[in-house]
Amino acid sequence: MKNNSLFVVLLSLFSAFSFATDENISVKENLEGLKIPEEYKNWRVISASHRTDNKSMRIILGNDIAIEAARSNQTNPWPDGAILGKLVWKQTTEKNWPTAITPDEFIHAEFMYKDSKKFKSNGTGWGWARWLGKEQKPYGDENDLNQSCIACHTPVKENDWVYTTPVQLP
Ligand code: HEC
Repeated sequence: MKNNSLFVVLLSLFSAFSFATDENISVKENLEGLKIPEEYKNWRVISASHRTDNKSMRIILGNDIAIEAARSNQTNPWPDGAILGKLVWKQTTEKNWPTAITPDEFIHAEFMYKDSKKFKSNGTGWGWARWLGKEQKPYGDENDLNQSCIACHTPVKENDWVYTTPVQLP
């Protein structure tokens, strides 16, 4: 009996430990089972974009695999394991320099997860997911999880479904 409870204690310590060390574990999961990659706030930048039609600013980021591919021009196709992120803010102007456009309220974060086997069935080789607002509420329902993403990215199908060209660095 005593040994049994020690085992249970050890087991729960072990699972608490592995939970704390796995950076990809998140409570934020969408209907397709895709999880927000919590580490994205520490990712490096691939590019930026400014949409003048809906007045928003975007930063495009990548995990280490994506950054390595971007820096070495190996982006068509992007390698398995690459995750691209896009963070979107409403735009405002810099109060001390009104001709500078800067990010304001956070709108959403979205991610493309490259796994050519796992996501073969949706025809793109990427998983697609978006989290809305500061609460990071999973986007999508049974009517549309990723169809609208894929439809709007279809013009860049030949570019491995990706719009962004990594920025040039000195
Ligand atoms: C209305 C068209 C449209 C829809 C819908 C759309 N995207 Fe995009 N997406 C774009 C464009 C255009 C870019 C290029 C960067 C920019 O200016 O926003 C982009 C860029 C991205 C990027 C950065 C990599 C790249 O392709 O440049 C990610 C990640 C992304 N989208 C994910 C998604 C996900 C996930 C969804 C669905 C939840 C989605 N997108 C839906 C138009 C769209």
